Amino acid sequence: MGTAEMIEDEQDIAKLDVTPDLPGGSKPLDLPILQGTMGPSVLDIRKVYAETDCFTFDPGFTSTASCESKITFIDGDKGVLLHRGYPIEELAEQSSFLEVASLLIEGDLPTQSQYDAFVNDITHHSMLHEQLRGFYDGFRRDAHPMAIMVGVVGALSAFYHDSLDISDEKQRIIASHRLVAKMPTLAAMAYKYSMGQPFVYPRNDLSYSENLLHMMFSMPTEEYKVDPVLARALDKILILHADHEQNASTSTVRLAGSSGANPFACIAAGIACLWGPAHGGANEAVLNMLEEIGHKDRIPEFIKRAKDKDDPFRLMGFGHRVYKNYDPRAQVLHNTCKEVLSVLGHQDDPLLELAQELEKIALEDPYFIEKKLYPNVDFYSGIIFKAMGIPTSMFTVLFAVARTVGWIAQWKEMMEDPSQRIGRPRQLYTGHTPRSFVERAKR
Ligand code: CMC
Repeated sequence: MGTAEMIEDEQDIAKLDVTPDLPGGSKPLDLPILQGTMGPSVLDIRKVYAETDCFTFDPGFTSTASCESKITFIDGDKGVLLHRGYPIEELAEQSSFLEVASLLIEGDLPTQSQYDAFVNDITHHSMLHEQLRGFYDGFRRDAHPMAIMVGVVGALSAFYHDSLDISDEKQRIIASHRLVAKMPTLAAMAYKYSMGQPFVYPRNDLSYSENLLHMMFSMPTEEYKVDPVLARALDKILILHADHEQNASTSTVRLAGSSGANPFACIAAGIACLWGPAHGGANEAVLNMLEEIGHKDRIPEFIKRAKDKDDPFRLMGFGHRVYKNYDPRAQVLHNTCKEVLSVLGHQDDPLLELAQELEKIALEDPYFIEKKLYPNVDFYSGIIFKAMGIPTSMFTVLFAVARTVGWIAQWKEMMEDPSQRIGRPRQLYTGHTPRSFVERAKR
């Protein structure tokens, strides 16, 4: 076994005494320290393997910066989230989802004419190739809409051949805009299919969020009027989910893209990763958990289970890998949640009452306080979606609609980085040492 101890920290070099248990013995190693504009410095370990014959080991990437990025900054201890330098609270209150999309993808807040051009482009790419509709018929009616999304988003690469050349900047832009524009259409169709209702085409006179509600809830039989409070709440939720630095699904998109895979395939990979209950699937899991709890009298029983090390149960919507004091997105949504519930007159919904009680109890419980487990963004977004009449199975799909913007921005940044290489982690092998094959009859 070897040891690695930092023995000196100069201005931009960390001297490590790396003593691997290898024939060469002790090998002092100087590692450059890289400094970003904010946040912790990073030890540049790129030459560790070449100079020590050792890999570094960091499952779950708790200490590893996987890339350099200018898009999003998070300070988990202080509850800070900035997109291109702008605080999430200001963006959520003062901006719109498409303006935030433009900011994340292009790098700066758009001027009025840039904004108009961006909105125009997204609006005019929202329709799908008509043949794509046929894909939906191939799914069972009870298919999870995330399963449909993984399939149909990946299938976009079979339709838009003129935007698959990732070495062509123009094609990259067209593919990016197509993805942002078509996601609400694909998502709403997944919902309509599950309901056995006819698909609804997008409308160019509606905003992004209005259009999403229109495509989900309108029917050919009667006029559907989009409630402006709901459209604004949805827009806010989309803003709050737009990007979150190098989370699991974004890292998946980057890893997929690092091989040169086309953007539609990369975003499909991101959707697959987002689906998991520890990530985007948590908003759906929150509602399922509330239904399982059923009544506030049963909360103590579930809190007890969440604390039991031998029970895999966790309180869904609580805790975060990065935010250890509070999730700033959850703070914004907490207020939106109250607003939406009062506008919709849902304050008396027993499930929502249960959610509020659970939040209160968990916030006062020493286990949750000690482990710094606070309600995260998914706790409140699930409750708002439920109040808006959006079915539970669609929650993560809406998260995917929003996060497509972040995935695209991060993929684009990686594509434009001349130092980009295929992502290829190594491993600590703990399997068998070489052994000889034994014939089946002799095993
Ligand atoms: N309920 C009960 N205990 C928990 C919970 C929870 N929700 N979350 C963490 N813990 C405990 C965990 O058992 C561990 O205890 P110990 O130190 O005694 O072993 C400690 O807190 C640290 O947990 P961890 O699993 O090491 O933390 P992590 O950073 O690997 O996981 C997390 C973060 C978000 C996956 C986790 O908190 C969790 O599973 N939360 C519930 C699912 C959820 O709400 N996910 C949405 C995250 S926000 C949106 C997104 O990013 O997609």
